[in-house]
Amino acid sequence: MRVSREGSTGRSEIAQSAVLPDAGPRPPRLDERADPTAPRRLALSELPWPMDWGLAFGTQRPLILEIGFGRGEMLFHLAQTHPEHNVIGVEVSNQSLEKVERRLMRGENDRIRVIHAAAESALALLFTEATLDAVHVNYPDPWFKKRHHGRRVIQADTVDWIANRLRPGGVLYLATDIRDYADAAHGVLTACEALENDLGEPWADAMSGRVVTKYEGRAREQGRPGHYFRYRRNQRLAPAAPQSEELAMPHLVLRGPLDLQAIRQSFAPIRFEHEDRHISAMGAFNDAHSVLFDVFIQEPTISQRLAVVLTRRDKDATLSLAQLGLPRPTPGVHLAVARIAAWLTQRWPELHVDEQRVAVERGAMTAASLTRADGAPFSAPGAAQDAATEAAPDAAHNAKPKAAADG
Ligand SMILES: C[S@@+](CC[C@H](N)C(=O)[O-])C[C@H]1O[C@@H](n2cnc3c(N)ncnc32)[C@H](O)[C@@H]1O
Repeated sequence: MRVSREGSTGRSEIAQSAVLPDAGPRPPRLDERADPTAPRRLALSELPWPMDWGLAFGTQRPLILEIGFGRGEMLFHLAQTHPEHNVIGVEVSNQSLEKVERRLMRGENDRIRVIHAAAESALALLFTEATLDAVHVNYPDPWFKKRHHGRRVIQADTVDWIANRLRPGGVLYLATDIRDYADAAHGVLTACEALENDLGEPWADAMSGRVVTKYEGRAREQGRPGHYFRYRRNQRLAPAAPQSEELAMPHLVLRGPLDLQAIRQSFAPIRFEHEDRHISAMGAFNDAHSVLFDVFIQEPTISQRLAVVLTRRDKDATLSLAQLGLPRPTPGVHLAVARIAAWLTQRWPELHVDEQRVAVERGAMTAASLTRADGAPFSAPGAAQDAATEAAPDAAHNAKPKAAADG
């Protein structure tokens, strides 16, 4: 599995700054809402990682998860036929979420919760090992084309996550109408040592106890019958699936002369990769008090688009996350903030980092991993100062961390 765990392994460095600025208002999280058990849609970005499902449902019950529930026929069917379980659906489609949410708000079933999330992120961030009794995946990825393989729900990493989250004896159900998908899924599922085929054949042509979903009904009408898989979690060690961590909010204080307009004008997009993390700082915007950097961060378990903001204060400036859209301070976010600080201090050497609270691995930002979006090296004309990157480690590492006692 490709997820790394900076920060908890001792490979990361973190320094605590003295006083953090007021983070400003943020929307309430689930456990702060008036009625945390109201069955409305939950968003991955607002929930605690991992989620306390007893809090979401008001009662602790064994859990069933459906990935990509569409119109929700199977979700409601599962809740009706498993009265002793709580049922969670994850979906990426707003339209699907809204339809099911309306039914839930009408009170059709109070043991269903729907989450706006990609399955891969939900599995990694919201659940812990051996906490699911069953996972259902019905007719995923109808666009089964080669160029979409990277986005397929049933692929080795995701199946590892599912196997990790299933309790021993728990079951993964999969249905697909696409023969090529069935063949590919058979290969991926049999390769997962923590799962056993429960059927005695690669897949079955029918499976009892199901409801016909919208997609399934249409596929049948069009002459594409389903292929049904049932895999059981065995007693073997779970595939490694480290819990993704959330760090403290990244924060730096920069001291030195600051020309916000010049910063915005000299900014050119920055793109770099470290291990499985891809970071793009795509644009910069300024007003009289701040420069806002528009940043996209793609990590194995989550993608976030957020704003890193440089705010001028009396005698210094802070670099931190803007409180827009509930940014989550993952290791990739820390890396992005440290990289922007590095660009600022290399471009304007009279600026220096005075206090910092960023967690980045040493070597995460070596010269080899740094390129501009246009592919030009950092020593390109117009960015001469960036050549310093070749020789110098990132600014965050150079900064003098505030003594912990200060905090
Ligand atoms: C072909 S539809 C099937 C819907 C429903 N399961 C059915 O059988 O009618 C696939 C569904 O999976 C959802 N989906 C696709 N990729 C997903 C992902 N990575 N995480 C969560 N949902 C996903 C899509 O939004 C869509 O609603």
